Amino acid sequence: MTDERRAVTVVTGASSGLGRGFAERFAARRHDLVLVARRAERLEELAARLRAAHGVAVDVIPADLADTAAPARIAQELADRGLRAAGLINCAGFGTAGAFTAEDPDRIAQEIAVDVTAPTLLTRLLLPDLLAAPHGVLLMVSSTASHQPIPNLAVYAACKAFLTSLTAAIWQETRGSALRVLAVCPGPTATEFFAAAGSTQFAVGRIATTDEVVAATLRVLDRPGGPVVTLGWGNRIQSLGAKFAPRRMTLRVGQRATERAGSRAAS
Ligand SMILES: NC(=O)c1ccc[n+]([C@@H]2O[C@H](COP(=O)([O-])OP(=O)(O)OC[C@H]3O[C@@H](n4cnc5c(N)ncnc54)[C@H](OP(=O)(O)O)[C@@H]3O)[C@@H](O)[C@H]2O)c1
Repeated sequence: MTDERRAVTVVTGASSGLGRGFAERFAARRHDLVLVARRAERLEELAARLRAAHGVAVDVIPADLADTAAPARIAQELADRGLRAAGLINCAGFGTAGAFTAEDPDRIAQEIAVDVTAPTLLTRLLLPDLLAAPHGVLLMVSSTASHQPIPNLAVYAACKAFLTSLTAAIWQETRGSALRVLAVCPGPTATEFFAAAGSTQFAVGRIATTDEVVAATLRVLDRPGGPVVTLGWGNRIQSLGAKFAPRRMTLRVGQRATERAGSRAAS
């Protein structure tokens, strides 16, 4: 029986930064898209621009991914519109910063919902269709923060560690299928991320451009390979250091780096 549903690539976090960059690149590759984020007017503007520039079909599904019911609603919406996911780019995310004891519990709950629960459930719900696609893509936008615990970014780093770990396990479980599974770990990147976080404590090291990160990710995604890639030589060396250095040392270095980044912004 042929599947009458139209294949689409679902991009969460498409209203800004990396998500918007991925949506642009996939549209240029003639993928029909579904754009997800809260700011519907931004998604509609992008959708109109991509339809005009590339002749692709672009659907918009506004959703607040802090609502843990959102992934099921998005999956249902795809079904109702006769769409099947051949690609899923889990890019929506935000971070909180500062001492864990001072963090707002409600904000932490939202962070875990957006950064962990939503990509996990959306992936689980869409995975059968992704696996059935001839060239399926599952891209998780993780972070170099996932490679070690980071004082002052405690929850964000833990969320991203979950995402990288989850992706690696899915990669192994789906080996032998046509699905390309990848967790990409960029370092600091010039997007609205720092403004959304209200903190520059994330801005440790060189800040890449959105274009650099998106282009480098696609280069990796286009060839077969491992489940996790860290972008940039500096970030790769840092990640290796975190892997092999004693944990207490990594924690001290992380604390100093986030404190320095925070005080640079304050001064
Ligand atoms: N920028 C960096 O330094 C950096 C480095 C490594 C990894 N990352 C990761 O890259 C991903 C994209 O971030 P970015 O740098 O492009 O930041 P950004 O410009 O702030 O974009 C974040 C995106 O996530 C969406 N989002 C946030 N909260 C949401 C919610 N409750 N419901 C639905 N969508 C929500 C935003 O859309 P709305 O506000 O319209 O909902 C926006 O489209 C994130 O997962 C981030 O952790 C960023």
